[in-house]
Amino acid sequence: MFLWCPRPSAGLEGAGRSSGNRGCGQFTKQTDGKGDRLLSADFPDSHQALILMPDQAPPASADLQDTGSPAASTERKIRSVTYNPAIFDVGNFEEARRIILTGEGSTPDERWKSETPYLADAIQGALEITADTVLIDYGCGIGRVAKELIQRCGCRVIGVDISNNMRILALNYVQSSRFLACSPEMLDMLVARNFVADAAISVWVLQHCLKPAEDIARLHRSLVPGGGLFVLNNIHRAVPTKEQFWVNDGLDIKSLLRDRFSMVMEGKPSEDQTPPDLRDIIFWAKFLKTD
Ligand SMILES: C[S@@+](CC[C@H](N)C(=O)[O-])C[C@H]1O[C@@H](n2cnc3c(N)ncnc32)[C@H](O)[C@@H]1O
Repeated sequence: MFLWCPRPSAGLEGAGRSSGNRGCGQFTKQTDGKGDRLLSADFPDSHQALILMPDQAPPASADLQDTGSPAASTERKIRSVTYNPAIFDVGNFEEARRIILTGEGSTPDERWKSETPYLADAIQGALEITADTVLIDYGCGIGRVAKELIQRCGCRVIGVDISNNMRILALNYVQSSRFLACSPEMLDMLVARNFVADAAISVWVLQHCLKPAEDIARLHRSLVPGGGLFVLNNIHRAVPTKEQFWVNDGLDIKSLLRDRFSMVMEGKPSEDQTPPDLRDIIFWAKFLKTD
């Protein structure tokens, strides 16, 4: 999904680590001297977390907190917002389509019709998918891409999604005995019992994950050695929040992927297949599990 999201600010200067309690949970802040890093928090309920992000151009609607840096020439502020994955708890097929493929200068309908086969061609070009392949579709939504790939290749697809509603809609939409939908937790259970998939895709998902390094580690564990991963993503993050809809916390998804996988192909969809508002802010890439 490509949704508007403010571009990252210049970032905070300095290196350091601080922690504290804001009344709703423990948080940890990290900077690395090169710019701001993800600032996030762990809460007892994984669906309740606080994201602290660099101060950005729009006026703050949420808290502004001074980090208290001693020597910074510019004031260093962070803003707190609340992670809100309920955005993906859609009620029906049409709502799902609108949140999965926003217009971005096109329409969800046009994007669905033109992007889906185009994307399937690209995935088939990047990954060898046959009727024997077991593929993970991480963040499957209602199974838009899974359905297309099953129809084309006869592969088996495990659609993984955090949203129970998306998973239910996916079963209805894909309508195939070669498809199952499960939560990330269920995938973890299967992997703990030695399941591994041959390949994986993740389309418009990692930009939205609260802790994408954990999702990427899960994908790595879930693949056979040498297994391929195809990713299509926003360059900038768009984390769903209660206060500001989509927030860019500054994390670099491609770099997180490269920490775990070897990148073997990189590019972007052709301009005629990219909605106007998404030009130059998206990438696709193929990765291999090499360790
Ligand atoms: C923009 S939709 C993309 C759906 C599908 N990949 C497609 O292109 O049609 C993003 C999906 O990722 C799911 N998602 C978000 N965070 C996730 C996470 N941490 N783990 C698994 N799924 C996640 C959402 O519930 C949503 O269904």
